[in-house]
Amino acid sequence: MTFTWSKEWNMSRFTGRTVVVTGGAQGIGAVLATSLAAEGAFVAVADVLPTDSTVEAIHRAGGEALGGVCDVTDTDSVNRFIGEVLERQRTVDGLITNAAMFTSLRPQRFEDIPSAEFDRVLSVNVRGTFEMVRAVAPVMRREGAGSIVTIGSGTIYKGIPLWAHYVASKGAIVALTRSLARELGDDGIRVNCVAPGLTASDGVLNHAESFPQVFTERQIASRCLPREQTPHDLVGVMKFLLSDESAFMSGQTLVVDGGSAFI
Ligand SMILES: NC(=O)c1ccc[n+]([C@@H]2O[C@H](COP(=O)([O-])OP(=O)(O)OC[C@H]3O[C@@H](n4cnc5c(N)ncnc54)[C@H](O)[C@@H]3O)[C@@H](O)[C@H]2O)c1
Repeated sequence: MTFTWSKEWNMSRFTGRTVVVTGGAQGIGAVLATSLAAEGAFVAVADVLPTDSTVEAIHRAGGEALGGVCDVTDTDSVNRFIGEVLERQRTVDGLITNAAMFTSLRPQRFEDIPSAEFDRVLSVNVRGTFEMVRAVAPVMRREGAGSIVTIGSGTIYKGIPLWAHYVASKGAIVALTRSLARELGDDGIRVNCVAPGLTASDGVLNHAESFPQVFTERQIASRCLPREQTPHDLVGVMKFLLSDESAFMSGQTLVVDGGSAFI
């Protein structure tokens, strides 16, 4: 058997593909968006915050992107954003539901979490994912293909204290991923989840009070690969799940945490 490797093919793995990334104004979402654009994808970046810096970084590097203000909990806002993407691009090939309430939260004992905050976290993290998938599913169904990647968290395997609403929401993401994978498989649409460990994203670095050094050091010590995790550690697995290299995988959760949680 001969094995041929084409640099050209590798460099353009996502050329002609359109990928929507939610929560891409900063942090993990911004790194994923710019990395996918660097491999040729047209990236549509949605966030409640301005997405200019991500979109401009992509344009400066010669890539293609569109940004827009989009609240993933608002059905009209989500449909409007996907409509704008479809005015520019023929279809949506990939979706990363990265938007979440995470680094804006403060650690609290569960009794102290206001009910409204609990509801808001579940709404953004879980229903926001649902809203995005519901908006892109008809587009992908038309093509008979698509790859959706949800974002879970390594916290659900450990039951990290002081983040009860957040951990519950990420547990729900794994369950939702499996349920959606079953419903969308007949249409050629795959749904998988990536569960990162504690990652030095912009938000984590900017909220040192929520993620004190002792906490991050404990996380690092728990890993087979004892070093800090960065958003770039998630890029490879994301490209794998979005590409045809994972064509026969759906409903799965891949933990990327340096080998801290064994599932
Ligand atoms: N950083 C970590 O340690 C870590 C670990 C595991 C999982 N994750 C997950 O990875 C993802 C990104 O993490 P991050 O550290 O970059 O988080 P972050 O809090 O810095 O970024 C989340 C982004 O989502 C956006 N967002 C919030 N509410 C929104 C809404 N209603 N509509 C649209 N966008 C909204 C925010 O504006 C922000 O840009 C999140 O899903 C998070 O839960 C992060």
